[in-house]
Amino acid sequence: MLGNFTYCNPTKLYFGEDALNGLNAELPKYGKNVLLVYGGGSIKKNGIYDKVVALLKENGKEIFEDAGVMPNPTSDKLNEGVARAKAAQADLILAVGGGSVCDYAKAVSVSVHCNDDPWEKYFIRFEDVSCKIIPVGCVLTMVGTGSEMNGGSVITNHQQKLKIGHVFGENVFPKFSILNPKFTYTLPKYQMISGIFDIMSHILEQYFSGTDDNTSDYIMEGLLRSLIHSANIAVENPTDYEARSNIMWIATWALNTLVAKGKSTDWMVHMLGQAVGAHTDATHGMTLSAVSMPYYRYILPYGTKKFARYAEAVWNVNPKGKTEEDIAKAGLCAMEDWMKSIGLVMNITDLGTTEEMLDGMVESTLIMNGGYKILTPEEIKIIFKASL
Ligand code: NZQ
Ligand code: ZN
Repeated sequence: MLGNFTYCNPTKLYFGEDALNGLNAELPKYGKNVLLVYGGGSIKKNGIYDKVVALLKENGKEIFEDAGVMPNPTSDKLNEGVARAKAAQADLILAVGGGSVCDYAKAVSVSVHCNDDPWEKYFIRFEDVSCKIIPVGCVLTMVGTGSEMNGGSVITNHQQKLKIGHVFGENVFPKFSILNPKFTYTLPKYQMISGIFDIMSHILEQYFSGTDDNTSDYIMEGLLRSLIHSANIAVENPTDYEARSNIMWIATWALNTLVAKGKSTDWMVHMLGQAVGAHTDATHGMTLSAVSMPYYRYILPYGTKKFARYAEAVWNVNPKGKTEEDIAKAGLCAMEDWMKSIGLVMNITDLGTTEEMLDGMVESTLIMNGGYKILTPEEIKIIFKASL
């Protein structure tokens, strides 16, 4: 049964080949000073930087830059960004990049006027925002995280070996996001498929929880079928507009909070993956692909019915002559075969993990309680071992 909920998603989206023109509608709503936030330079190589700067200038904006946001943005970089935004007296933070840049922009936006240490306040104590927020807009160049239409912000603290996400409220969601599928064409294949698996994982984290009959599960099965279909096309032909636009749109739907409404969710794969990320700084989607099969095989006996439904609805497993358990297992085998076929990383050794690191990773793993089995630290170690 669907539980009670309130739903609001305030982010305005501009989608398609001309989406960047949406800046002409959005920029006049904000003051003169724009902090332009971006990553390691891909936007300079592919021309997106020049297009954005031209539109900012046409709209009379004064541009202040904060470049060098790394994948898996750090708490040190966040402190630097806060100082830059303060110095710029930013009226708008414009994030141009992937999830890391968008997440970082949100973290800066809630920290500029915060008197506390933002890492401690938001990412350790999970406190609400109690200060003025600088509005954020996004121009998305990497698809996967859903950061373009949610309040999520994930920050890594290398000193503490922790990678933690805070889900901020509606007031921190991007005010607008520009989604042009062509902006993703220059992504290296490794990043593209990592993003594809991040999307799949977001859907599965919300699907593998609960046993009730609810509409969200049917929506998620449709999203998964479309994702697998489009991913197969995009892997063969990365400039297939139809496939890339579908993947971009599925990513947004997967984590814009809609499918989680009224149902329980798991998120344990992300907690395991984030622990791997905290210790290795590996690419987010690959940390998820590396731990997913061992995790799902471990919890399958506690949620067999849902795994069997998944096998039939998403992987077209023929149930004839099979037990529920056999159907469920066949679904995971089909998923594993597909993951290998598109080139995902299937173990944490390939991401730089060694057996000696496992105890530290177990310590860095937050334990969630919405999945089919609440894991103990010993079980987390078993799953990490199976992922080596
Ligand atoms: O830094 P640049 O030079 O721009 O290069 C980036 C980066 O190296 C490159 N890239 C991005 N767009 C490109 C491009 N290269 C060529 N052409 C383009 N068009 O791709 C690399 C990865 O970018 P990044 O932003 O790190 O990837 P992603 O979008 O996967 O973001 C990962 C971060 O988001 C967090 C992750 O934990 C991780 O820190 N997440 C955020 C979530 C949220 N807000 O809800 C949920 C997710 O589960 C996730 O945890
Ligand atoms: Zn993710």
